[in-house]
Amino acid sequence: MQTGWLWLSAFAAVAALAGGAQGQGLSREFYNATCPALQAVVRRGVARAVRREPRMGASILRLFFHDCFVNGCDASVLLDDVPGNFTGEKNAGPNANSLRGYEVIDAIKAQVEASCNATVSCADILALAARDAVNLLGGPSWTVPLGRRDTRNTSAGAANTNLPPPDAGLPTLLSMFRAKGLDARDLTALSGAHTVGRARCAVFRSHIYNDSAADTAFAAGLRASVCPAAGGDGNLAPLEPQAPDAFDNGYFRDLVARRVLLRSDQALYGAGNGTTDGLVRAYAANGTAFAADFAAAMVRLGGLAPASGSGGEVRLNCRRVN
Ligand code: HEM
Repeated sequence: MQTGWLWLSAFAAVAALAGGAQGQGLSREFYNATCPALQAVVRRGVARAVRREPRMGASILRLFFHDCFVNGCDASVLLDDVPGNFTGEKNAGPNANSLRGYEVIDAIKAQVEASCNATVSCADILALAARDAVNLLGGPSWTVPLGRRDTRNTSAGAANTNLPPPDAGLPTLLSMFRAKGLDARDLTALSGAHTVGRARCAVFRSHIYNDSAADTAFAAGLRASVCPAAGGDGNLAPLEPQAPDAFDNGYFRDLVARRVLLRSDQALYGAGNGTTDGLVRAYAANGTAFAADFAAAMVRLGGLAPASGSGGEVRLNCRRVN
């Protein structure tokens, strides 16, 4: 009798945690018993990828953002299209020929499956990998709440409407973040992710040709070197040229100097909003304050839950549903 009750309680607790992954209740201990090697395996996999190519740290961080902003952090972004049957997010406007790092997550997932079969969601692996990527590039670390489930469906349309475009002005950015429960401080801190990584000429051309908000010499330099008025769409420039692979607060100093690539970046500073202007100045002056706010905002970003409620699965292969 007592054993039965205990068993039922244990079952209820596990069910609550699993359900909570779709809603609120993630837990830092979620895999302590079922996959104790998880965190070490993920970190090793990210470290290997970043050693091979430092930019990959930035790419994994962006992958996590694009997962979470589209129906919550449910590994929706990792699903491959199935011609004639399923069109996912990978070829949506903000992601096609741009989002990268899928193979790194595949390799880590394979390692995790080898030690903990059918236990750890792809969404949780991506959340841990993003944290490790930031830390390996010199940024902060934080504890990642775990217990997410992988979705069984998504759509390109959801990615097209939820992800902010590079020509967005501040009102659009604020309202797109507010729609996710994230405020101006979250937006400003999370945008600091652009202290690492690269962008294509196609996404920053309008800012350096048509936008008086950009520093004149900075824009002229880019026009002459990597981003012609026509052609060269895929040419890359670092989002933060001083230290493009170091996760520091250089991005905020660039914002104050008006030397950033994207119109959506510059919108955070000098567009007449005292709140974001003040935050940018504070982060430019104090890297520790930026690191703390970035870590806290990443936990909030990672808490975005799928709207679909309970359900989902632990995918065996991150590219397709079971
Ligand atoms: C605030 C609105 C944002 C906009 C409009 C935006 C837009 C973009 C664009 C257009 C690129 C370049 C893509 C390309 O050239 O193909 C990019 C790169 C990047 N974004 Fe964002 N982004 C935003 C916020 C974020 C956030 C919140 C994060 C992470 C927390 C993030 C992380 C990154 C990283 C790390 C890269 C470089 C990726 C690489 O080198 O592979 N972005 N972003």
